[in-house]
Amino acid sequence: MKITYYGHSCFEVEIKGTKFLFDPFITPNELAKHIDISTINPDYILISHGHEDHLADAVAIAKQSGATVVGVFEITAWAQKQGIEKVWPMNTGGSKKFGEVTVKLVPAEHSSSFPDGSYAGNPVGFLLKTDSKNIYFAGDTALTSEMQLLGEYNAIHLAMLPIGDNFTMGITDVIVATELLRCNKVLGMHYDTFPFIKIDKEKAAEAFKKAGKELILLNIGETLEL
Ligand code: NI
Ligand code: MN
Repeated sequence: MKITYYGHSCFEVEIKGTKFLFDPFITPNELAKHIDISTINPDYILISHGHEDHLADAVAIAKQSGATVVGVFEITAWAQKQGIEKVWPMNTGGSKKFGEVTVKLVPAEHSSSFPDGSYAGNPVGFLLKTDSKNIYFAGDTALTSEMQLLGEYNAIHLAMLPIGDNFTMGITDVIVATELLRCNKVLGMHYDTFPFIKIDKEKAAEAFKKAGKELILLNIGETLEL
């Protein structure tokens, strides 16, 4: 499994030749100016909720790649209205196998509306299950007891969690989340992009070390092998 970071909460995860792109927000991101989105060609685009900082480049990337947009019904209906032909509507609690990967939509505690203010359904996270490793992409969320269920009934090898505080959980709650998820390996996201979510990365690393957990922060454009 290869995970490439494109800034904010955007990652491309390649599993056995199938590419899943999460929450594309690249061209408006000042920190991701060196990323050329015309080179990004996923098979699926997974959108956690309707906020601009999670779907700004979804339409452009879906159109150039022919990727299928996956999300709650309201998200895929919006994508169709933007002229995207291939969508797969789902909703919280549902699973669907794409290639060799089972994608499950799981609850996120957040809000969700489109940039024009219209209703975007419930925000979600995604659990990706394969025959070897499982990963959890939380989307934007608070610490929630839902994570306890996820950890109890799934072996999670990597948790992609928002760590920037203010709009989502921050480091203290993220460390609690690792306990609930029973996963000690966190890939951080949703930090530093805007002044509201600037974090002290040294302090974050220290807090994780003290708790005996691993916090991975990738450079934008960097790839992690799992
Ligand atoms: Ni949001
Ligand atoms: Mn966000």
